Amino acid sequence: MTDQAMDRDPDMDADIPGKPTSASRTTLSHIMTHNDTNLLGTVHGGVIMKLVDDAAGAVAGRHSGGPAVTASMDEMAFLEPVRVGDLVHVKAQVNWTGRTSMEVGVRVLAERWNESAPATQVGSAYLVFAAVDADGKPRRVPPVIPETDRDRRRCQEAQIRRTHRLARRRAIRELRERRAAEGFED
Ligand SMILES: CC(C)(COP(=O)(O)OP(=O)(O)OC[C@H]1O[C@@H](n2cnc3c(N)ncnc32)[C@H](O)[C@@H]1OP(=O)(O)O)[C@@H](O)C(=O)NCCC(=O)NCCS
Repeated sequence: MTDQAMDRDPDMDADIPGKPTSASRTTLSHIMTHNDTNLLGTVHGGVIMKLVDDAAGAVAGRHSGGPAVTASMDEMAFLEPVRVGDLVHVKAQVNWTGRTSMEVGVRVLAERWNESAPATQVGSAYLVFAAVDADGKPRRVPPVIPETDRDRRRCQEAQIRRTHRLARRRAIRELRERRAAEGFED
């Protein structure tokens, strides 16, 4: 065997069967209490972000069949305030999969405690999770199989975000390297 072949990850060429989006889609529901408020008396954004991370983490763990860690969270949008007593539903699904990472899309809905109206969308976010092994090293994930037109659109949009994330990281790294080469210290 050549050195190159010996170095190759044996997992690399193994085909992992895909999993449909619905296999890991999850909703986490939670009633907001006085412990969750900010100084204005509405629910603290960090409380919602924790629920978003929890729901997305559950989806990533289900999809990848093991532990997965948050690599990034972006485009977290708060559209409407959430209030004490509201029943919040955090809906999450895998939008896209790479080799070892997954983008999870999350929508946050609130059922107002004092209104008999349908739940309102109050937030949304996109998170990237990396599946990890027992040593915390990235491991392969099954490809996600979008099932509906909406799933397919979300997958296409996730690919656009992935391209932008990589391009932004690369551009910032290059800028920093250039500045370091020019002798800037920061
Ligand atoms: C996320 C982590 C496992 C990545 O490890 P790494 O050694 O950089 O590994 P890689 O560069 O191979 O990245 C693994 C995958 O994650 C993706 N990734 C890594 N950092 C990312 C980021 N900031 N944004 C988006 N994707 C990212 C990579 O693109 C790669 O995906 P792919 O295999 O589908 O192409 C590692 O940085 C880590 O453990 N971070 C801490 C996570 C954590 O503790 N989260 C909870 C917050 S307290």
